[in-house]
Amino acid sequence: MAKFIIQGRKPLKGEIEVSGSKNAALKIFPVALLTKETIRVFNVPEIEDVFRAQEILVGLGHEVKKVNKGVFDIKFKNQKGFELPADLVNKFRASVMFVGPMLVAFGKVIFPHPGGCVIGAGIRPIDLFLDAFQRMGAKVKIKDNYYELTAKKLKGANIFFSKISVTASESLITTACLAQGETTLKNCAMEPEIVSLVEYLNGCGAKITGAGTPTIKIKGIKRLRGGEYKIIPDRIEAGTFAILAAASNSGEVLIKNCNPNHLEALWTLFDKIGVNYILTKNSIKILPSKKILSCDAATHEYPGFTTDLQSPYTVLMTQAHGSSLIHETIYDRRLLFTDILTQMGANIIMADPHRVVVNGPTKLYGRKLVSPDLRAGAALIIASLLAYGKTEIDNIYQIDRGYAKLDERLRELGADIKRI
Ligand code: EPZ
Repeated sequence: MAKFIIQGRKPLKGEIEVSGSKNAALKIFPVALLTKETIRVFNVPEIEDVFRAQEILVGLGHEVKKVNKGVFDIKFKNQKGFELPADLVNKFRASVMFVGPMLVAFGKVIFPHPGGCVIGAGIRPIDLFLDAFQRMGAKVKIKDNYYELTAKKLKGANIFFSKISVTASESLITTACLAQGETTLKNCAMEPEIVSLVEYLNGCGAKITGAGTPTIKIKGIKRLRGGEYKIIPDRIEAGTFAILAAASNSGEVLIKNCNPNHLEALWTLFDKIGVNYILTKNSIKILPSKKILSCDAATHEYPGFTTDLQSPYTVLMTQAHGSSLIHETIYDRRLLFTDILTQMGANIIMADPHRVVVNGPTKLYGRKLVSPDLRAGAALIIASLLAYGKTEIDNIYQIDRGYAKLDERLRELGADIKRI
């Protein structure tokens, strides 16, 4: 199994490019089931989760052709079965995005519970999806750990999500496009990936209003055309690089091909803690700062401070002067990785599964680690780059799921990181 070997405390400076958004890319492949025309997708990140999504599509009878670097054509050839393969569905939670479109396209879908990062207690639920599909007329059977959903024709419905979920919002938007009549979704997530998906679907003939607000209305249409989709820059990757540069505080770092407007909550925190930065329309420059101060942070649905940047920010707080309370409000296992930071030398007290207090600044020391999940994995890379001595990070499939060739890109900044 591949590992990262990192020798910490090298000065970081130079330029780094942001890839296409993982969480936007994973939602476009299932849309291909809703049209017989070709979809051309640009700025596709070459990451493990995207490869798995492409494998699912091919298994269902689609052709996925690489046209150029980051450019793929997807086209329906002929349907092969109703089942989503367990070995692929187990690997990433966004595989649940295939369920609605399969129900629309084939009238039936069989699938096991989706996998992905273990960041919530027990298995991450899919009740919001199942309830909504039922409201639209689907029949749901659960047997031998498999779900079987059937529907001759889905009907528009009024759906209130009892929790705000990005994937449930996106799944129901996509599914309702070809349903009979109008669907109203309330208490939707407002992430930029949702707005981007809706812009694409409307360009292909869909009739969706309200994306980027909590209430979204979808008027069912008969047919969705193919089209071209340019994946937006990955705001989590951009934020992760900005936090790394701020924490390292060793040189000027220019983060290119991103959209800083998607990270306003992070800039507000940077203002409070004294990070020196300059934003343009599509870049972020992090300059050396005099002193990084501590500041509390609580995660929140967009446009609040995203849970996906909580782990890198927690690492940054180990280097800040003072105490900070980090409150993870979305997931109840996303702070468990702080135990590994403590083993590296951080002074972190866990109040409960949702809250830790970080006292800084502390020196971090390299050691042998296992990446527990995708975002914690990225945070541990930041910690290792700040640490004295050598760190070995195992289970890096979890990092490769969401960051394309991260080691190569960090080396461009001067990091001493090897994949063995
Ligand atoms: C999306 O997850 C992202 N994933 C996550 O990114 C991100 O952390 C999250 O939004 C919050 O911003 C994708 O877009 C693929 P959820 P999503 O599981 O929408 C509860 C990353 O590292 N819930 O819906 O799948 C759930 O328990 C990932 O890139 C239910 O109760 O998030 C949680 O408390 C991780 N029932 C909340 O909703 C359901 O049926 C949101 O979680 C579904 C969710």
